[in-house]
Amino acid sequence: MRGKVVVITGGTSGIGEVAAEALAGMGARLVLIARDPARAEATLERLRAKGPQATHRVHLADLSLMSETRRVAAEIAAAEPRIDVLINNAGAMFGTRRVTPEGLELTFATNHMSYFLLTHGLRERLLAAAPSRVINTASAAHRRATLDFDDLQSSRNYRGFMVYSRSKLCNILYTRELARRSAGTGLAANCLHPGFVATRFADASGGLFSWVVRASKKVFAISVEKGAETLIYLASSPEVATVSGAYFHECRPATPTRAAQDDAAARRLWEETARLAGLRS
Ligand SMILES: NC(=O)c1ccc[n+]([C@@H]2O[C@H](COP(=O)([O-])OP(=O)(O)OC[C@H]3O[C@@H](n4cnc5c(N)ncnc54)[C@H](OP(=O)(O)O)[C@@H]3O)[C@@H](O)[C@H]2O)c1
Repeated sequence: MRGKVVVITGGTSGIGEVAAEALAGMGARLVLIARDPARAEATLERLRAKGPQATHRVHLADLSLMSETRRVAAEIAAAEPRIDVLINNAGAMFGTRRVTPEGLELTFATNHMSYFLLTHGLRERLLAAAPSRVINTASAAHRRATLDFDDLQSSRNYRGFMVYSRSKLCNILYTRELARRSAGTGLAANCLHPGFVATRFADASGGLFSWVVRASKKVFAISVEKGAETLIYLASSPEVATVSGAYFHECRPATPTRAAQDDAAARRLWEETARLAGLRS
């Protein structure tokens, strides 16, 4: 990874932070996108400790907002002529339905829209570094989900974990369609389930489910180091240099649900997402 540029979201906590540290330790230069300046500075300190020679950077943005995601993508594109790896990893779950000032349901906006818009904004820089990689953190939670194209903003019957699961199904479908559209360009796109990991995830989601997740983590969750392994593998291993459009778990290809292999749905999701973002698909 020496000399490679890795852009990562959700690098200030959990599996993203451990992956960022590991990749910095392999010689990569990290570009973090973070929303909290103090947490970002703490992560930067940890990255510098792995290799003081690399000039890691932070760009601040709230990725639940399309305007912020577009702005930060443009900022990074202006600063980085080549990007070798983009890791879309920031994610969250919300116990009650919230809507962003831009009119999107908060889980959909944070977990899906930001992946789409950030990749779109950095695509030229990724192509400039080809062979390059986009890695999207999804989840086995997608197994419970189907998409309702008439209600992508979950305005009916909101249940936090179901809406989260749908956003993770979106991550897999988006990865498939990105891989299909990028075939022959040298840009590979893959996604992963990290396992059930003892991170801060869902600690602040609110409601009974957040309590259940916190209690379950104490008993069943794997360590953050173990949970970061597939992310690190997909970002750095030569074994997966030519693999694209796949879903991984424990550093091996895995089979997602039928709904997550529906290429017509993947195409439709891309088109709907582009429309919501005001882009031509
Ligand atoms: N933990 C699990 O069991 C599990 C299982 C399957 C999939 N996943 C997925 O793994 C990914 C990473 O989660 P984690 O478990 O490492 O959880 P985490 O410790 O809560 O980390 C989440 C990261 O996302 C960032 N983030 C959240 N909302 C953001 C926003 N609006 N703008 C910018 N950054 C934002 C957080 O920033 P702050 O540091 O500022 O909070 C943090 O860095 C997520 O996509 C999650 O869905 C986790």
